[in-house]
Amino acid sequence: MGKKVYLQTFGCQMNVYDSERLQGLLRSFGHGITRNAKDADIIVLNTCSVREKAERRALGRLSDLYRYKQKNPHVMLVVTGCMAQRMGKELLEVMPYLDLVLGPDQIFQLPTYLQNNKECPQVAVCSSREDFDSQKIWQQEILPERKTPFTSFVAISRGCDNFCSYCVVPYVRGPERHRPTHQIIREIQLLAESGCKEVTLIGQNVNSYKFKGKDFADLLQMASDQTNIDWIRFMTSYPKDLSEKLIDKIATLPKVCEHIHLPLQSGSDRVLKEMNRGYTSQDYLKLVERIKERIEDVSLSTDIIVGFPTETKQDFEKTLDMVRKVEFDSAFMFRYSEREGTKAASFVDDVPEEEKLGRLHILIKLQKEISKKKNLRLLGKTFQVLVDGKSRKDKDKWKGKTKSNKTVIVEGNGSEDVLGKIVFVKINEADSFTLFGTLQEQVLMKKSVNRNYDF
Ligand code: 5AD
Ligand code: SF4
Repeated sequence: MGKKVYLQTFGCQMNVYDSERLQGLLRSFGHGITRNAKDADIIVLNTCSVREKAERRALGRLSDLYRYKQKNPHVMLVVTGCMAQRMGKELLEVMPYLDLVLGPDQIFQLPTYLQNNKECPQVAVCSSREDFDSQKIWQQEILPERKTPFTSFVAISRGCDNFCSYCVVPYVRGPERHRPTHQIIREIQLLAESGCKEVTLIGQNVNSYKFKGKDFADLLQMASDQTNIDWIRFMTSYPKDLSEKLIDKIATLPKVCEHIHLPLQSGSDRVLKEMNRGYTSQDYLKLVERIKERIEDVSLSTDIIVGFPTETKQDFEKTLDMVRKVEFDSAFMFRYSEREGTKAASFVDDVPEEEKLGRLHILIKLQKEISKKKNLRLLGKTFQVLVDGKSRKDKDKWKGKTKSNKTVIVEGNGSEDVLGKIVFVKINEADSFTLFGTLQEQVLMKKSVNRNYDF
């Protein structure tokens, strides 16, 4: 009999995608999805381990949700994802009331376990990793169930081989495995046929994608040529693997969005070496120069960690310096969080917490100023915007994204229904995080591949 499932997701795009695909799969097994935990027969928390805070939040939420099980013992409490993989049986010691603990490679077995309740183990995490081909779920045409029908993630790989010294991902998500090209293309086409306008190809390091002689640049070409999707985004790009061939594809394929998420992590060569990142600040700068030269109107975003073990004030100054030089459009900025089992966990975490916080505030303030400065340069220009909903603050306005991944609030004329459409918007205001513009009705139907429009 169909159950009602409540699903909450923590962490990165890969977890969001796994949850959305799991929702699609659960529905195909006759289950329903509920947004209210109190109505659920099954409560699933898809968890993240990348920083300690993410784990603490998930554990807090779990003890909070336990009350539903106390009231209704038939309720199943399930933990999936990276924290499930990392902690395994240990989770049951803290929370013996959990019914099921599934690692990221076992998450799609949930519907089968629900069917065969008796054979359901309490903990199923993985030591040897399955590849895409050996997992039936990847051969099934299950589409991710998204919040908005107009955009979707599509996984092109799982796991990571980079072993950055601070990062737990290679341990919890296993080695890098690449999804067969035909599966990816098929999923994009099915999404396009269902009304989706934009896909974001995701992997821990999309630039190292390889399948039967095809690399990531070839995959972008194939997705452009062989599907009806309008826009193609991708993330995350690892600086050492971003090839000239790929830059060329981003520059020339009109469907490929001109936004690159390129984690810098630190501006200090010494720290980069300790992080095992495999590039120097000069390598990074040269790459950025090349990207800016070749890709018109490109936007760059990044990830930065402050307070990595042994990071001095001078090292941190170098990070600020790089941020000033590159002028990122936006950045995700984090305090270093020690993760058990990683190489960096054996280093002395010697930057005091308040110093880490202080550095983080300085960095965020600087980036905010740069983001604003860059956004102000766009005033008066017209961009294509994919409208994906109403503005949260003002229901008379639309909200969407440019190809360069900037959020835009769009003032319409009230009568135009532009939801799910790619429209032209003239920018007339901007702050650090958002552009504000007006709909350019006269060019609504114009089919052009140029990237910005000076009218
Ligand atoms: N501490 C702080 N930030 C981390 N990240 C990964 N591991 C850690 C950690 N131990 C950040 C990196 C990565 C992003 C997804 O999370 O910046 O790019
Ligand atoms: Fe972690 Fe580095 Fe892999 Fe990213 S590339 S998931 S930071 S190990």
